[in-house]
Amino acid sequence: MAATIVSLTSTIVTSSYSSLVFSKLRSTPFLRLSFALTPLCLRTRTLQMAHSTLGLTHPAPIEPLKVSFAAKEIDLVEWKGDILAVGVTEKDMGKDENLKFQNPILKKLDSHLGGLLAEASLEEDFTGKAGRSTVLRLPGLGSKRIGLIGLGQCTSATTAYRSLGEAVAGIAKSSQASSVAIALASPGGLSGDSKLTTASAIASGAVLGIYEDSRFKSESKKPALKSVDILGLGTGTELEKKLKYAEDVCSGIIFGRELVNAPANVLTPGVLAEEASKIASLYSDVLSATILDAEQCKELKMGSYLGVAAASANPPHFIHLCYKPPGGTTKTKLALVGKGLTFDSGGYNIKTGPGCSIELMKFDMGGSAAVLGAAKALGQIKPPGVEVHFIVAACENMISGTGMRPGDIVTASNGKTIEVNNTDAEGRLTLADALVYACNQGVEKIVDLATLTGACIVALGPSVAGIFTPSDDLAKEVLEASEISGEKLWRMPLEESYWESMKSGVADMVNTGGRPGGAITAALFLKQFVDEKVQWMHIDMAGPVWNDKTKTGTGFGISTLVEWVLKNSS
Ligand code: BES
Ligand code: MN
Ligand code: ZN
Repeated sequence: MAATIVSLTSTIVTSSYSSLVFSKLRSTPFLRLSFALTPLCLRTRTLQMAHSTLGLTHPAPIEPLKVSFAAKEIDLVEWKGDILAVGVTEKDMGKDENLKFQNPILKKLDSHLGGLLAEASLEEDFTGKAGRSTVLRLPGLGSKRIGLIGLGQCTSATTAYRSLGEAVAGIAKSSQASSVAIALASPGGLSGDSKLTTASAIASGAVLGIYEDSRFKSESKKPALKSVDILGLGTGTELEKKLKYAEDVCSGIIFGRELVNAPANVLTPGVLAEEASKIASLYSDVLSATILDAEQCKELKMGSYLGVAAASANPPHFIHLCYKPPGGTTKTKLALVGKGLTFDSGGYNIKTGPGCSIELMKFDMGGSAAVLGAAKALGQIKPPGVEVHFIVAACENMISGTGMRPGDIVTASNGKTIEVNNTDAEGRLTLADALVYACNQGVEKIVDLATLTGACIVALGPSVAGIFTPSDDLAKEVLEASEISGEKLWRMPLEESYWESMKSGVADMVNTGGRPGGAITAALFLKQFVDEKVQWMHIDMAGPVWNDKTKTGTGFGISTLVEWVLKNSS
């Protein structure tokens, strides 16, 4: 009979930006679990608008959405609920000479259904290919719908299992299901450890798949989904810890997506700073916030950053959150630096012409969303032995009489002078001062993330981010983290000979070196502002920040950053 051992209740609270908070683990008679509850008053605070928003748009607070996850070891045919979904590989779909399944789990399920499953999969030519699925309606049976979800050939990649969770969430949404179960046709081949990662990947996929940002829609459908049972992948405290970790990361990702989705008339640099401060006060046991205004940045001689901010009516805000582990002692000090352009018009070198995507430039703070999303997740995970600085020089690149002109020379906080030959290469100007500030925190390693160049999209397409670092050790660390998170990174060269194109006749450098190798010259520019003793990596995420199909932010970078910080903890 059914033995539910672990039951995990997630409360998703989305209020303006405060997004999702998974609150507690509910104990069952079998296993007592105790997790601290975040006080409700902190979870449901709504965004306080500092100024009246242009266009009178205010993000709607969203009804709290509750989804509970439970890991169970029960027979598929005994499960009762709305949708039973089974992840199948192409091999699992193999049939014998009588066109019956050979896989024991599918065989048993199909004999229960009088052969309907084999029949339907043949008729629909469903062979288990990734991205395909087949769903049967079965009124009168224990589960109202049974779905086979294709995993393709691979059986072990995190991305395949996350997609499984997402696919099930999609089916649940379209059929207004309130209870679903997810199982694998071949769980036997997985080791104990990979069962844990598989279950958490499925859960993450389901959470991120169900989530919809409807803050700016005047009407929104409430998701019906209440419970997700994960069958046959084990139970117990290890699994429950893993699911909790997945939830913490997902809450960071959703927060990051909401920041990117928010339009620039709502998410100004000031509002971004407020959101960062809120994260710090929500996890005040480990996080603290420092926000510098324009005057304070001037005292720190951040002329490069302030040059970019100069045209905007929305003043710049320099954001610095600091994570210190509970208990105090730290082994490693890290910094995460994110590009935080809440809008990039291009400035006097205004973005014009087809394909320039000026209307999407609210996403130009995607790097800062990754950094702040990671801060939120880490505020909940609380890793020991590591100090992390989260740094964003937030501003807006606009046009006005007070703005920076093409040809102007700005001076960064390390004293270097820059001839601005293109005001649209503004991200690197803001990052220059942010990187100098990060080095002054005495950190050993810095990772910066930025939607920095269209050239990187030309090189790697929309789903792969370019990474640039002189350090093979840091490259290895971050690439390993990305293997776990499933985010796609590709190392690019820091070709020093290309620096030639960045020389100025009158200043120390120009800010753009022409079209060829544009992502590389941008990275070489950033390198001028990093202390040689500090290990540094630049991630150009101009492609993966945005999902062109859903027309929403992806939350790219957050899960890799969290994995990397954990690698550096003790
Ligand atoms: N934010 C853009 C980069 C970008 C462009 C991201 C398209 C995503 C999609 C950045 O500030 C920029 O404008 N870069 C210029 C640099 C150029 C002037 C050297 C670019 O890529 O065109
Ligand atoms: Mn630009
Ligand atoms: Zn930009």
